[in-house]
Amino acid sequence: MDGNGRWAQKRGLPRFMGHKKGAEVLRRIVRAVLGHRIPFLTVYAFSSENWKRPPAEVRYILHLFERHLEREARQLIEHDIRLRVIGDRSRFSDRLRTQIEDLEKLSQNHKTLTLQVAFGYGGRDELVRAAKTLARDVKTGTLAVDDIDQACLEDYLYTGGVPDPDLLVRTGGEQRISNYLLWQMAYTEFLFKPTFWPDFTPRMLDSVLTTYKTRDRRFGDADPSRENIAFSPTSLTGATLATP
Ligand code: IPE
Ligand code: MG
Repeated sequence: MDGNGRWAQKRGLPRFMGHKKGAEVLRRIVRAVLGHRIPFLTVYAFSSENWKRPPAEVRYILHLFERHLEREARQLIEHDIRLRVIGDRSRFSDRLRTQIEDLEKLSQNHKTLTLQVAFGYGGRDELVRAAKTLARDVKTGTLAVDDIDQACLEDYLYTGGVPDPDLLVRTGGEQRISNYLLWQMAYTEFLFKPTFWPDFTPRMLDSVLTTYKTRDRRFGDADPSRENIAFSPTSLTGATLATP
């Protein structure tokens, strides 16, 4: 959800107004996602690197997060949403930590939508944390080294039990992943939109979903429609070789 600051600056407003509007837009987009019967949504609200921002901005974003958690508690029940907050919580206040734990517990059996809010999240952080826990489990004998495989490692991630994302949409015009879901996005389809997040609408969501449907996902397998192409070293062009 990138572009809050620039959205505000463009209007001559302070950056925090962009975050405020961005949080409201998220509320509307979650509704739209429910309407599309999408069962999993993960939003990048605050990264492990965002702690470097000016303290006043960080404080405001934390305040906004707390306020929205408070305000949306009823919606989790009403719309059968399971909330999970993924990221390093060590810099959160005790109050925020408790608030999150309570909401996660309250909503743990909800089935319609799993909403993961990545806050204080970093993909590399997540992998380091997984490696540490895994190493501890090996040391204590809870886990055998030979039992470590992809499925096992996944269970150690914040996102354990949640399927990999099919589609990533980044707003705000930048074309990078900024330490987001590094492991999980191995085969995710990427879509980059120039729109600042506060300008993102349910209609734009419809349009990105339509684009997604045109993507041909092969997960590294061959394209069956090209099966008749002779496989000889001379038919291998640089382009084919570069296509994983
Ligand atoms: C995204 O908007 C929200 C957060 C990262 C917290 P930005 O604050 O990054 O907005 P820009 O990129 O400066 O416009
Ligand atoms: Mg940004």
